[in-house]
Amino acid sequence: MSRNVLITGGAGFIGSHVVRLLVNKYPDHRIINLDALTYAGNLENLADIEQAPNYVFSKTNILDTEALKQVFDTYQVSDVIHLAAESHVDRSIVSPLDFVYTNIIGTVNLLNTARDHWKADYSKHLFYHISTDEVYGSLGDSGFFTETTPYAPNSPYSASKASSDHFVRAYRETYHMQTIVSNCSNNYGPNHFPEKLIPLFINNIIHEKPLPVYGDGQYTRDWLYVKDHALAIDLIFHQGKPGETYNIGGFNEWKNIDLVKLLCRLMDEKLGRSAGYSEKLITYVKDRPGHDRRYAIDASKINQELGWKPTVTFEQGLSETIDWFLANTTWLEHVTSGAYQHYYQSMYTNR
Ligand code: NAD
Ligand code: DAU
Repeated sequence: MSRNVLITGGAGFIGSHVVRLLVNKYPDHRIINLDALTYAGNLENLADIEQAPNYVFSKTNILDTEALKQVFDTYQVSDVIHLAAESHVDRSIVSPLDFVYTNIIGTVNLLNTARDHWKADYSKHLFYHISTDEVYGSLGDSGFFTETTPYAPNSPYSASKASSDHFVRAYRETYHMQTIVSNCSNNYGPNHFPEKLIPLFINNIIHEKPLPVYGDGQYTRDWLYVKDHALAIDLIFHQGKPGETYNIGGFNEWKNIDLVKLLCRLMDEKLGRSAGYSEKLITYVKDRPGHDRRYAIDASKINQELGWKPTVTFEQGLSETIDWFLANTTWLEHVTSGAYQHYYQSMYTNR
């Protein structure tokens, strides 16, 4: 094997798309998927590649330093792509410490393990950290986040991601490890856990449940199809410049309420429902505290330096995503049984 690439969080939404892409595209890379399988991790996401000769899975928590060391020793890990995280803003408002443990302490554990394992020659190894545009805070009606926008995180989630980004930077400056960070906008697509806006609303439309739009619905997000994010991660991992940061975005801003109406229209067509049927489910509910008004990424650096741009239009991506959820009802039933019901009730009852 030319490289032994440890991908953390590979059983989650974005991680599973990255694992699949790299396993299929690079038979000479061994892909080690390390994941604790929290509520968000699901090996069903990877059923199609789990028998591949260049793929292994390790059920490991990044808070367990001994177990991390064992994984590095066993597989002689040469590089890391770090996606494991607590990723949902609403959960971070309820339980900030969970985000401190996994996103900050877990990242530092991983950095320490990599530093100790690679200390003979850091130039042969890369620690690639996957982060979010939320570290930059909130935009007004105009402007974009660039790689030099100052950090101004507003939620416990984004504060924990910002902190992990800073630790990656500090390990580069202090120990001279080779690191890259990328900060991406909102992803959507197959395997998205139905706590986030798009999959939650698809699930509710299927079951004719209320669609809880926070606040005035005028909040704006920049949406990117998850497979295009996976392609960007592949490109950055193989061709990105160590020490650099890259912003990744969809050039695709939508106000939440407009996106929800589009989703309703597309789903009514696909489900054979009359026009306007699902829009009646829209219910305005209490706003998210500290809700960032607008995110928008300027992705010109990765475009100009590495030639990346999204390959899928929003109409195509959203249509494929809905089709995937309608075709994978068993997946949806599995992830929305048990603990999900408890989560849903605690988050949305009397909101
Ligand atoms: P996700 O919640 O779907 O998946 C997270 C994965 O990490 C799960 O498989 C979970 O089991 C695993 N995990 C959680 N805690 C762990 C721990 N302590 N040890 C080991 N594994 C653990 O998240 P996602 O949406 O796929 O996001 C992946 C990464 O990308 C995160 O770092 C997130 O901050 C970042 N990101 C996400 C988006 C987005 O729109 N979803 C956008 C930009 C950046
Ligand atoms: O920008 C990147 C980030 O995008 C990632 O770092 C996060 O991991 C990811 O969860 C996502 O964060 P958001 O908070 O933007 O995503 P979410 O899907 O939770 O919400 C999108 C918008 O929809 C936001 O303005 C809040 C709103 N919303 C969300 C939910 C779950 C609602 O109006 N109702 C809802 O029920």
